[in-house]
Amino acid sequence: MAFKTQIGKDIHQAAEILRSGGIVGMPTETVYGLAGNALNEDAVLKIFKAKNRPFFDPLIVHSHAISEISRYVRHIPERLLPLMERFMPGPLTVLLPRAAVIPDLVTSGLERVAIRIPRHPVALELLRSLDFPLAAPSANPFGYISPTTAQHVLAQLDGIIPYILDGGECGVGIESTIVGMEGDAIIVYRLGGLSIEQIEGCVGKVNIQDHSTSDPAGPGMLESHYAPRKPMILGDIDSLLEKYADKKIAVLSFCKKHDAGRSFILSPEGDIDIAAKRLFAGMRELDASDADLIISESLPEGGLGRAVNDRLRRAAATPKP
Ligand code: TXA
Ligand code: MG
Repeated sequence: MAFKTQIGKDIHQAAEILRSGGIVGMPTETVYGLAGNALNEDAVLKIFKAKNRPFFDPLIVHSHAISEISRYVRHIPERLLPLMERFMPGPLTVLLPRAAVIPDLVTSGLERVAIRIPRHPVALELLRSLDFPLAAPSANPFGYISPTTAQHVLAQLDGIIPYILDGGECGVGIESTIVGMEGDAIIVYRLGGLSIEQIEGCVGKVNIQDHSTSDPAGPGMLESHYAPRKPMILGDIDSLLEKYADKKIAVLSFCKKHDAGRSFILSPEGDIDIAAKRLFAGMRELDASDADLIISESLPEGGLGRAVNDRLRRAAATPKP
């Protein structure tokens, strides 16, 4: 079915579409989501279709309050509670034993369901106005860069979804951090908008799982992901500029300006949070340029630098020139 896609700020209109089993673009503080009723299999199917997403890649269920979550999970491990109380709403997703109301399609048949409470006021108001939770992956075609503005969503889902709720530019800019328990250990399955320092400051040491390319339990960790269409190379920018001097190059740098035809500086003032916020917009802009190749560099590893570096590595895991 083809739609004339509208962008707007009408929460009631978005809610009406969702109540009738449709799907909409939704702002969150991390990235834009493609939302549908998580308890309605038909709506969830529409999400997979619109994104061209394989069914083995499960969806995050969004709610507006911890008190609501108990309807969708069998129990909450005690060790995760302080983390949830401190960082929900926020860029944190927790994997919890799922209750029977959650369709298999949402979890790809896995025993845990991913739950998140977004901190964006528009998302929270939308969720409060509904009597069901929203399944929402990032609103990009599978494997491509996540959207951080309503215009990014439109650029790729125009004609495919009826409505995009515009909540402005996402404040965090990278996806939520995904956390769960294995035995007594807290495991981080995806680095994201909540830093390891913040998590460990609350619950002590955690294990960061280093995912392989084909682990279906954490496909957000597929090696090539968040990827521009152009080849991207990560390394020392000056050396790479020299090495690929015969190519049209676009440079994505942390804070320094480089002499290249196209360039995007993530944060001239060297602020890692701003760099995270601008990362996907920068990747998109350079991907739309006439360059043959995008070159980029890693950020310092502290705070969100670690998650940004993870995204850069995955974006660069595409075929080299
Ligand atoms: O910040 C975010 O998390 C954004 C916004 C829209 O909330 N959502 C997002 O969704 O990034 P998505 O679908 O692009 O990435 C979710 C990741 C997927 O890689 C999926 O594999 C993992 O979460 N995931 C979801 N449910 C899971 C489950 N039950 N077990 C293990 N991994 C799960
Ligand atoms: Mg995604």
